[in-house]
Amino acid sequence: MDRGKFSTSYGCAVDKVVTLSHPAGVGGKSTAVKRLYIKTYGCQMNVYDSARMADVLAPHGYVPVDSPDGADMVILNTCHIREKAAEKVYSEIGRLRPLKEDKAARGERMILAVGGCVGQAEGEEIIVRADCVDMVFGPQTYHRLPELIVRATRATGEKVVDTEFPTEDKFDHLPEEARPQGASAFLSVQEGCDKFCTFCVVPYTRGAEQSRPVAAVTEEATRLVAAGSSEITLLGQNVNAYHGVGTDTAEWGLGRLLHHLAENVPGLKRLRYTTSHPRDMDDALIAAHRDIPQLMPYLHLPVQSGSDRILTAMNRRHDADTYRRTIDRLREALPEIALSSDFIVGFPGETDREFAETIRLVTDIGYAQAYSFKYSPRPGTPAAVESQVGETVKDERLATLQQLLRAQQTAFNRSKEGAVMPVLFDRPGRYEGQIVGRSPYMQSVHVTAPERIIGSVVDCRIIGVHNNSLRGEILTATTESGENAATVERACA
Ligand code: 5AD
Ligand code: SF4
Repeated sequence: MDRGKFSTSYGCAVDKVVTLSHPAGVGGKSTAVKRLYIKTYGCQMNVYDSARMADVLAPHGYVPVDSPDGADMVILNTCHIREKAAEKVYSEIGRLRPLKEDKAARGERMILAVGGCVGQAEGEEIIVRADCVDMVFGPQTYHRLPELIVRATRATGEKVVDTEFPTEDKFDHLPEEARPQGASAFLSVQEGCDKFCTFCVVPYTRGAEQSRPVAAVTEEATRLVAAGSSEITLLGQNVNAYHGVGTDTAEWGLGRLLHHLAENVPGLKRLRYTTSHPRDMDDALIAAHRDIPQLMPYLHLPVQSGSDRILTAMNRRHDADTYRRTIDRLREALPEIALSSDFIVGFPGETDREFAETIRLVTDIGYAQAYSFKYSPRPGTPAAVESQVGETVKDERLATLQQLLRAQQTAFNRSKEGAVMPVLFDRPGRYEGQIVGRSPYMQSVHVTAPERIIGSVVDCRIIGVHNNSLRGEILTATTESGENAATVERACA
């Protein structure tokens, strides 16, 4: 697939739709409140992008709401990475159509937009197939949302497709964050990918690798912490390929960026980064795990397969042994580091023996948790035209791998029973009086405590272990707000 196929910008007037009045204030700033519903699919980068879309639209009177019912604008921020992504989007559009029609019957307008990677990959096709969609845009053009809305709401009934990879930097045009992200925040530092793994759409939908300057990242991190975030996860499709301009104008790698943030953003208690490529785990980044106390002892480092032949066919640019050595080096630097990975089973041509090599690698390494997927042909990617492994075989391999990964996750969780660890509480639990946080190793930890502890890092003893989470009790005498957490807990019980 040619990345250029996706770099065209269209401003097409496909079909006329019912043309309603221009919504007040779009294009210029307005205080008239308009309801904005964004549905986010896929990865953390999309979660971050959705928050930034809301930031872009906030000065134009758009306020996020939890339901598409009655919304003035609905954005589907889509993901194209795996199976049936486009079909899921068309089904969702089908569910939204009656809501849009209801609103039109009341003489009001719902602007329906498809953004994200399906928008980028499908472009105009979305409007051809679903004429109730007003706008299609990709991940690199959402800073232009206000002007796209103006075009989409013209009396001419223009449909708008903007899937360009613009020369201007999206981040230079985004406003400051309008709303706090909470205890744990995402910060995009790198976008796009030049690796071209043969199964993956990301290089086509997100474009070429780009890194934000250290100063811009530091400013955003400082604002996030000032707004109440204690933990920041640096995001990038290939985050450890980060090569942003440093404060000395030299190019800095991710290890140096992490040091800089840890030292220059007071109040930043925890740092994480995702997603990384094994080829880009350089010495400075490995040493950062040893040397930066704020950098959490957890790393998501996808390997995809344990077979060298499959890794070559995937164009992964590393073999199984190099991956194993990287893990050894990480464990030498920080013995407690917990590891996570992505796996694809049933890549075209994968034999039983090659799949067994994946099982062996998983057995040897021992993961704290992992994600595993059946290979799904992505249109336009090189592997999609190779001869495919049958569905039944894929199902069997996935079940075998997931059983092993689940056992490893349970074993890892059990190894923490009785341990005392700092937990960052970031959300209320499902049950009355319960709050939930993250251990340093990314495990969910549930405790009984009042909601005012949310936002604090508090020492907990792990008193119960489930497959996917831990149960804890609070130990620390004082929370960061100076409150006595033990008293707080008793007061609640
Ligand atoms: N089929 C199955 N899994 C895929 N992934 C990416 N593309 C595909 C595909 N075509 C998985 C990889 C990647 C994760 C984000 O999604 O494991 O690391
Ligand atoms: Fe896709 Fe990751 Fe490979 Fe880039 S490195 S092509 S994002 S799987």
